[in-house]
Formats: sequence, C-alpha cells, structure tokens
Amino acid sequence: MKTVSICFVCLGNICRSPTAEGVMRRLVDEARLTERILIDSAGTGDWHIGQAPDERAQQAAGRRGYELAALRGRQIAAADFEHFDLLIAMDDKNVTALRQVSAPAYREKIRLLMEFVPDADMRWGGAREVADPYFGGAEGFEQVLDQCEAACRGLIAALRPQLLT
Ligand code: 4NP
Repeated sequence: MKTVSICFVCLGNICRSPTAEGVMRRLVDEARLTERILIDSAGTGDWHIGQAPDERAQQAAGRRGYELAALRGRQIAAADFEHFDLLIAMDDKNVTALRQVSAPAYREKIRLLMEFVPDADMRWGGAREVADPYFGGAEGFEQVLDQCEAACRGLIAALRPQLLT
C-alpha cells in the first residue's frame, strides 16, 4: 500500500503548522485516506518545544470543529528530511530556514503550502504565504484556517493519483 508522509512547518509550531495539521487530519479522515497520508508538524524555531498550540489558534480551530489541544510543539530535525516525503512550509522564511538545515538531496521535498491552492492568485490578495498571526488580531487566525482548508483540499487532490496503486 502506497503512503505519503507530510510535515507542515512554520516558525513556532504553535499557530500555523498545528492548524494545518489539525485541518489536514480531519480532511484526510473524511476522504478515508487516514492509513495513506501520514501527518505531522514542526517549527524551525525552538522557543515553543513541548507547548500546546496557542490558545487563540485552539479557540479559532475549535469553532470550526478541529481539535488541536493534544498537539505539542517540536523543532524540525535533520532526520525529518529523510523521514518525510514532503515538508510543507507556511512562508518563504520557513523555506529558507529549512533549506539551511537540509542536505541538498532533500531540497525538492520542501514546498510552500499555498502552492496547493488552485486559485491562489484570486484569493487573499494573491498571497503566496500563510502570514504569521502571532502578533496580530483574531482575523489573522481565521485567515490561517481559511488558507489551510483550501490548501489541504488541494493537497489531497494532488496526492490522490499517486495513492491509487
Ligand atoms: P507560528 O507562529 O510560526 O505560526 O507557530 C509563531 C509563534 C511564536 C512566535 C512566532 C510565530 N514567536 O515569536 O514566539
């Protein structure tokens, strides 16, 4: 049975990447691909290792039925580049940070989440990134959720053909 493993990556692993993980877990369950698509998340920074997701991220996700409380922050490690098929970053700075710690052979595994939104140029002002909501207001967390929902749907659609056999 073919599987694909994905690690979502942001800076702190307490706002954006746990949100992406929670959204992806539910959409993958709904698509009955739980055994095929393996999901995790990590941060490029080390400040929030062992911490639960930001309270605001948990609340916003909870209002849409996503449960983030059991997730814990961790920092990306060299072994992750070997282990995961895709490391999907929230913004360009995360991509740069990932490239700095990965061996050249693994660089093609690094992608941007918004690449998987089919009509991304028409939405969120054409944003290529999922903006960091940490220092902003509640609307930032809603936009993270909107972007994660659209991108995770696109990601599942993009992965389906390679999971068929
Ligand atoms: P995240 O958000 O990268 O989406 O988890 C942040 C969380 C914490 C910090 C920055 C961004 N921080 O500076 O502590």
